[in-house]
Amino acid sequence: MKMRAAVLEEFGKPLEIQEVELAEPRSGEVLVRLVACGVCHTDLYTASGADPSGYAPAVLGHEGAGIVEAVGPDVSLLSEGDHVVTLFSPQCGECAHCRDPRTNLCMAIRAEQNLGQLPDGTVRLSRGGEEIRHFMGTSTFAEYTVMPEIALAKVNPEAPLDRACLFACGLSTGLGAALNTAEVASGTTCAVFGAGMVGLGAVAGCRLQGAERIVCVDLSEDRLELARGQGATHVINAADGTAVEQILEMTDGMGADYTFEATGNVKVMEQALEGTRMAWGLCTVAGVAGKGETMDVIPRLLITGRRVAGSSFGGVKGREGVPALVDRWMAGEIDVEPFVSHHLRLDEVNRGFELMEAQDGIRSVIHFD
Ligand SMILES: NC(=O)c1ccc[n+]([C@@H]2O[C@H](COP(=O)([O-])OP(=O)(O)OC[C@H]3O[C@@H](n4cnc5c(N)ncnc54)[C@H](O)[C@@H]3O)[C@@H](O)[C@H]2O)c1
Ligand SMILES: [Zn+2]
Ligand SMILES: [Zn+2]
Repeated sequence: MKMRAAVLEEFGKPLEIQEVELAEPRSGEVLVRLVACGVCHTDLYTASGADPSGYAPAVLGHEGAGIVEAVGPDVSLLSEGDHVVTLFSPQCGECAHCRDPRTNLCMAIRAEQNLGQLPDGTVRLSRGGEEIRHFMGTSTFAEYTVMPEIALAKVNPEAPLDRACLFACGLSTGLGAALNTAEVASGTTCAVFGAGMVGLGAVAGCRLQGAERIVCVDLSEDRLELARGQGATHVINAADGTAVEQILEMTDGMGADYTFEATGNVKVMEQALEGTRMAWGLCTVAGVAGKGETMDVIPRLLITGRRVAGSSFGGVKGREGVPALVDRWMAGEIDVEPFVSHHLRLDEVNRGFELMEAQDGIRSVIHFD
C-alpha cells in the first residue's frame, strides 16, 4: 500500500514527508493504522546525526498509538480493531529475560531492530524499489506501520490514543523507574533530577508508590510547576548548583532514600548519587548520556551502602506493563493532560523538533486524522 511518512534522508536535514510503499504484514506481523505519535528526543538525536548507530533512509518515530488494521499469518496476540501502543522494547514472553521478573530487556529481536529490519531480517518500507529502514522497530512517523505482534501493547479501547501514545516511551520510562526499578516504598523521601517527560513520570510514580516527600530538581520554573502538579512536595531550581546540599539539608544530612536521574547529563547522574542516602539509598539512572561520556563514582559512596541502578523503559515489560499503566491513567491515578503541549500534523514534524529544542512544552503529539 501507499502511505505518507516522514523520511530521514540525510542526517542534520529536516525530515521529508514522502509517499512511500508499505508491504503486507508477514508471519507474526501486524499492520497498524497510526492515530497519534509523540515527538521524542531520541528521534531528534538520530535525525541530527549525533547517534553513531543511526541509519538513513529511515522512517523515524517510536511513540505511536493506533488501531490494528490487519494481521499477518500466525498472529495470535492481536486482532483487527484492537487499540495498540507501539513498543520499541518488545516482550516475546519466551526468552530468558522475558521469563525473569527482574528485567524487561527482551532479547528476541534486538539484532534485527538495531539494523533497521523486522525480525525476519527484511524491511516492509520502500520507495521506488529502494529499501527504507525501520527505526527502533516502530517507524511511527507514518500513517501506517508494520510491526511484530510481540512489540505491540493492546490497551483499553476507551483510552484516547492521542495521549496513550505517551506511554510508548517517556511516560512509562519515568513511571516505571519508580514502580519497577526502584520499587519506591511508601513513606520515603525521593528526589527526581530533571522534569521533562521522564522526570515528571518518575515524580508521578513516586506519588503512586506513596512517597512522603518528593523533591524535583530542574532548571526551568515552568517545569518545576508541572512537577508540583504531578505530586512533587518540594522543588529546587538547579541553577545555583546547590541542589545536592539542599537535599541533604532537608534530610538531616542523610540524603534521599531514592533518587532518579532524568536529564542525560553525567554530572547530574553524579549529583543524583551524592544526594542518595547512605546505608540503603538507591540512585536510578534513566537519562541517556552522549556517546563515550562516563559517570564518575566515588567508591566510598557505594561502600557506605548506596546503590546505582540503570533503567531502560522503566523496567516495564511492555505488553503487560503498558496496558496496566494505561488502566491506572483511565482510573484517574495519573494526570496525562499537562504533558501534551502541542498538537501537530505529520507535515509539521520538523516543527515538533524545533519546539523540543526550544524546550517549549513537554510533548508535541502528531495526529494522523
Ligand atoms: N531509559 C530510557 O529507556 C529512556 C527513555 C526515554 C528517554 N530517556 C532519556 O531520559 C532523559 C530525559 O528525557 P526527557 O524526554 O524527559 O528529556 P527533557 O529534555 O524533556 O528533560 C530533561 C530535563 O532536565 C533538565 N535539566 C537539564 N540540566 C539539568 C541540571 N543540571 N539539573 C537539573 N535538571 C536539569 C532540563 O531542564 C529538562 O527539563 C534523556 O536523556 C532521554 O534520552 C531514557
Ligand atoms: Zn522516546
Ligand atoms: Zn523476550
